[in-house]
Amino acid sequence: MAETLQLFVGNIVHCEKPYEVSSLEKGFVALKGNKIVSVGDATSLANFRATIEVKYNILEYILKDSQVLIPGLIDTHVHACQYSNVGLGMDLKVVPWLWEHTFPLELKCKDIEYSRRCYDAVVKKALDYGTTTASYNAAIYTDSALVLADSVIKHGQRALVGKVNHTRQGPDYYVETHKEFIDETRRFIEEIQKKKSSLVQAIITPRSPTCSDLENMELLIGLGKEFGLRVQTHLKESLEGFKVFTTPPVKNPNCKTKIFPKKTIYAHCVHLSEEEIQALVNSESTVSHCPNSNVNLRSGICDVRALIKAGIHVGLGTDVSGGCSLSLMNAMRYAVACSNFLSFGKDNYEPIGWRDAFYMATLGGAKVLDLDKEIGNFEVGKEFDAVIIDMNVKDGPIDYLEDCSALETLQKFIYAGDDRNVVSVYVAGRKVK
Ligand code: GUN
Ligand code: FE
Repeated sequence: MAETLQLFVGNIVHCEKPYEVSSLEKGFVALKGNKIVSVGDATSLANFRATIEVKYNILEYILKDSQVLIPGLIDTHVHACQYSNVGLGMDLKVVPWLWEHTFPLELKCKDIEYSRRCYDAVVKKALDYGTTTASYNAAIYTDSALVLADSVIKHGQRALVGKVNHTRQGPDYYVETHKEFIDETRRFIEEIQKKKSSLVQAIITPRSPTCSDLENMELLIGLGKEFGLRVQTHLKESLEGFKVFTTPPVKNPNCKTKIFPKKTIYAHCVHLSEEEIQALVNSESTVSHCPNSNVNLRSGICDVRALIKAGIHVGLGTDVSGGCSLSLMNAMRYAVACSNFLSFGKDNYEPIGWRDAFYMATLGGAKVLDLDKEIGNFEVGKEFDAVIIDMNVKDGPIDYLEDCSALETLQKFIYAGDDRNVVSVYVAGRKVK
């Protein structure tokens, strides 16, 4: 039987290079199975058709003029276990918010049925918003975190899933014991591997660099190295919060051990010093920018432009439930708004714009998660994670719409779009919405 080739024909927008947006009006993307085999403009489509017609069973999807094909959106930092707290406690700053709202909610994840309901809802809603990849924080419970991985697999999303670790800096009812800390994390990683999903990987997730003593933290980092896993954690989110990084998890306060491995993913990074920015550059670490959460919890406004100028890869995180939406469109809007706020009164400050935000939500996010060989844009050889957007839908957020170019549709989607404007979602070539 002839091999199937899926062909998407229509307006296509993606980032081929950092912070640059390319538009292929009436172009095409062709895939075999999960992988992109050809991409081009209207002219090259005719040539492509000439080479394939006889050999393949072609499944052709022709986009409407109002639709645009964009890469799947990437949420580089989100706490799936905090979903039912969205919008609550936003009158508090991060530490009291954690103690009054977050830790009590995460405790509920001990209940597997609760976890299942919560995680199914999160993954489904994230896909509805066009989030094809997420780097999740679960709660401290191994079996609950495994349920999150099951929800991801069931709904066909791509994800890094972390069982959160902390043996201190939490209430007595919600910290791990020194004994279970490592054994449970090893069990978590091994169980994830047993699922043999090409879409889900474990990620080492210490809550913050100071959330365990040095010995435990080193064991945890060692476990990550043993299995070749990335590390994600929070860093310099608020001034009142955890005083971190320059004083890593220490018994000895003078200890300056650099325990975090290369390419660690740090969420927030609102208050980094020049030395800390340089330390991130030197360790090829990356930043998950969480602007909605930073505003809600009054942590501060991250100077993303400074991080970009330093050469650090920056992606966007919803940080639910510090952030109050799983939508990357909301994260993009907040990223642009926060950068605008920083520019007020400064003549020579160049705020980031919608193109930068779109890059951070797609290829930038893939680089942050070290997945840019697999996803992030429509380069030949990558997996097809994609979203079809349309601002001209019935009962959508905008009732009256003149014809738009592909780039205009994308701008409207970033500033005014929601899940009603996400028509279809594909992960690894498979339709999941
Ligand atoms: N710092 C440590 N844990 C958390 C968390 O769950 N959310 C946020 N926003 N900051 C944190
Ligand atoms: Fe967070």
